[in-house]
Formats: sequence, structure tokens, C-alpha cells
Amino acid sequence: MTTPKSSSSTTSVREVARRAGVSVGTVSNVLNRPDLVASPTRDRVRRAIDELGFVRNESARQLRAGRSRTLGLIVLDITNPFFTDVARGVEDAASAAGLSVILCNSDDDPEKEARYVELLVEQRVQGILIVPAAASTRQPSLAASRGIPTILLDYYLKTPLGCSVSVDDVAGGHMAVRHLLDLGHTRIAFVGGGSSTQVADRQRGALKAAAATKAGHGTVMTITAPSLNVAGGREAAGSLLALPARERPSAVFCANDLIALGLLQELGASGLSVPGDISLVGYDDIEFAASAGVPLTSVRQPRQELGQVAAALLLEEAADPDHRHRQVVFDPELVIRASTGRPVS
Ligand code: RIB
Repeated sequence: MTTPKSSSSTTSVREVARRAGVSVGTVSNVLNRPDLVASPTRDRVRRAIDELGFVRNESARQLRAGRSRTLGLIVLDITNPFFTDVARGVEDAASAAGLSVILCNSDDDPEKEARYVELLVEQRVQGILIVPAAASTRQPSLAASRGIPTILLDYYLKTPLGCSVSVDDVAGGHMAVRHLLDLGHTRIAFVGGGSSTQVADRQRGALKAAAATKAGHGTVMTITAPSLNVAGGREAAGSLLALPARERPSAVFCANDLIALGLLQELGASGLSVPGDISLVGYDDIEFAASAGVPLTSVRQPRQELGQVAAALLLEEAADPDHRHRQVVFDPELVIRASTGRPVS
């Protein structure tokens, strides 16, 4: 077997073509569109690349092609498994198209988000997928104004200025509280916070379900979590436990699973049982929901599908001049587990 020389960025495509006995165009196809080249020829070119230690000059390629072989993905909180599952879906679709993903974390900060958009534009990405920060412009960002496709993810774009992929969070909030009402709960708390439309829509759905009862909206009280994570859930538990026993809800619907897991932990530490004393419903159905100490009833979001569909839309928009902008909306699904039960009479 020929021992390849060490990699050299000076070896040219022309030398590879000469070594393999093919044209420069064939070498370029093997590098960029291997599916167009017959396998014996492809193998010969790849052997020549190995023997010569050829390394493509990516920055030169970017200049010629005008775009790098990357997608940008900006999420709100990479410590939330919801977003890592979405990123997994994006990466699956990008990898299948021969692209890589630059993952950015905005911390729900519009200024940090804008800096990342600038950076991704400078990196000449094929397109940007963005979960918009609550206070950001939300319209397709400046990247779109630079001709870089931008898809809004986990957010419903009300105008046809671009594409968006989201979940019907009003329906999700409605099914969570409908489930608790069907179990016989008449005093329910919604634990949310922040200014994201996703959380606001879940609360709207919860109140819509409550409005259908005799007690109306009074059935659902609101407790604000300082952050949409486990620590925020623990803090919300403190507010709930501070209520006089007669005012304490018999069930809690949380804006996401992390809050629910924080509540579960704190309620248990305070000697309260779930669902014996308080029923709990989360949202997202992340992997930890099913494996929690008390498996969590949760409203499932199709996380990887969200990422896959958003990436596919982005690649279509980047490649097809006749692309039509559209809003893709998924339906959530209620997954019932041990954390919800009938209220103690
Ligand atoms: O970022 C907070 C929540 O919004 C996540 O848990 C997920 O539900 C997203 O839609």
C-alpha cells in the first residue's frame, strides 16, 4: 500500500487530476458531488488525494462558491435538552446534505443574538436557523437582507416574509389543563415566566380550557418562575408552598419539563407527594421526563422533527430560486405518566 505523504495544502487539484488520470472537473465533482462520479473513478481520485496528501483550500472554495458548507443555528439555551434535541434534528439534515452546523447560544439576549447573526454572515453560511430571543425583532434578521436565507424555529412567523417551523402551543396548553380538569382538579396553577410567545401561548391555552368550566379562568392561578429551568422550578415551588393550605392548587401545569423537574424535586424535599398531594404536568417531553423519580406527564414537542424540517426548508430556500415561504406548524401530543392523578377529596 502506498504510504501517503503528510498533508499538504500546496498540492493542487491539477496534480491530483494528473495522478488519477482524470480531468480537474472530475476531481472537483469527487470533492463536491461524489454522487455524480462512477465509483471506480471516484476511488482512483481518492487514492490520488491520499497519496499526494491533498487538502482542499476551504477559504478559496468559499470565495469561488460564495458560501461555506455550513448552516448557522442560534438557540436560546443550550443547557435545555429541548434545544439540543432540536439541534440534533438540524445536524442530521445538514450532515445528509454534506454540511456542518455552527451552533450558537443567545441566552435569550437580542444583542448577543445580533452579534451571532453578524458572525454567521461573515462566515458566509448557507443559511441561518434561529429561535428568536423574546425581545428580538423576530422578522427575518439582517442575514435575510444580505441574501442569506433565515428560518425562524420554534416561533410562528405571522408574515410571509420568510419561513417558520413551530408547534401549536395554545393547543398544547389546552390539552395539559383539559387533562387535569378531566381528573377532577378545580384549582390549578400555571408556572411560567419570561416573555416568549411560546410560554404565553401555553398559558393562553390553559386559560382557554379553564374558561370552559363553571369556575372559568378562576380555576387557573399563575405562578412566575424566575427562569425557565430547574432552578426556576425550585423557586416556583417556594411560592406555591408559601400559599395557605386552603389556597394551594391540587395540580400544576409547568411551561416546560425543566421547571416541572425543579418543582418535583422541591415538593418531594418538603414532604409532599406527586401526584398524591399535587399533580404535575410538564412541556416538551424531554428524555428526563420519562426517567424522573415520578415519571412526568408532559406535552410532547416533536423536537428532532422541528430541527429536521427547518433545516430542509433552509436548504430548499438556499438552492431553489422559486422557493415559496411557508409556515410549518406541528401538533403537540399529551403523554400521560405517573405524575398526574385524581385530587385528594
Ligand atoms: O425556552 C423555553 C421553552 O420554549 C423550551 O423549554 C421549549 O418548550 C421552547 O418552546
